[in-house]
Amino acid sequence: MSEPQRPQGAYEFFDFEPATDDMASEVQRGLKSSPKVISPKFFYDARGSQLFEQITELDEYYLTRTEMSLFDAHLPEIAEVLGDNLCLIEYGSGSSKKIRKVLETVSPSAYVPVDISQDHLKENAWALYQDFPHLDVFPVCADITQQFALPEAVADRIKVGFFPGSSIGNFEPQLAQSFLRNVRAVLGAGGALIIGVDRKKTVSVLERAYNDADGVTAAFNLNLLAHLNARLEGNFDLGGFEHDARYNEAQGCIQMFLRSRAEQTVEIAGITVEFETSEELHTENSYKYHPEEFADLCATAGFQIDRQWSDPQDYFTLYLLRC
Ligand code: TRP
Repeated sequence: MSEPQRPQGAYEFFDFEPATDDMASEVQRGLKSSPKVISPKFFYDARGSQLFEQITELDEYYLTRTEMSLFDAHLPEIAEVLGDNLCLIEYGSGSSKKIRKVLETVSPSAYVPVDISQDHLKENAWALYQDFPHLDVFPVCADITQQFALPEAVADRIKVGFFPGSSIGNFEPQLAQSFLRNVRAVLGAGGALIIGVDRKKTVSVLERAYNDADGVTAAFNLNLLAHLNARLEGNFDLGGFEHDARYNEAQGCIQMFLRSRAEQTVEIAGITVEFETSEELHTENSYKYHPEEFADLCATAGFQIDRQWSDPQDYFTLYLLRC
């Protein structure tokens, strides 16, 4: 007990009141367009978050497991390279398992989780503050795709961004680039970014990851319709649609769809929508990056690759980027 303890950390919530789009008009627009599309942000109601958690534990879904093993193997080195006086900024306050590992190993003095969903953000931030009482915890409610100001209290600390889970792959490439530019601007000179990216690989391995045998990913995709029904007085028949996920070789991404099993009519958000048999509703893309492609993306966004680590099968890469 001789080690000097840092004093109790500070806790403060910062609200930038991110503009939340009108769900009804957004869904109407997507269902009126051709092909039909719904934003993946509507996956995450309580049931959706639960199903996503289950996806990360599936045998076929190698991403989470592989990234975690890269954290185990290389976070100590990352901690050593980065040194002290760090402020860790988590983009989209997500998996508690991952962030705990980083907080324990990299030992920042401040933690800034950034998320658009205020309740989720506050709950997670407060739980971590309880478990890491010497950490300054400053949750920021903001849209991660926009630039936002960091709390004054972290001005003189080295900013380290954290964006795991190959979430970068869920942005269209143009948006991935502008997202990284914004991140670069927020972190500032001397900052760093820890980012996990899924790689291009044998198509069957990719497609299996999004078409698991137990149908959890299918349930996750279909739950989107249940969520829309509940929020927008809809009558989507979940049995009338099937999950499909396939690799688009030309675009380099897994694409997820809900395919109508028959001709049918749906009422939702005050509009009537007709589906033809086999008509598809596009729900998400997940881009995969060759290391060379990701290096190009980093360069155009103003990051240099400091170090990178992959698993023995070259499925997934963990990058330490420098501003
Ligand atoms: N970014 C991860 C991926 O693309 C996690 C993810 C986001 C996901 N949306 C998903 C996984 C939908 C399965 C289905 O894999």
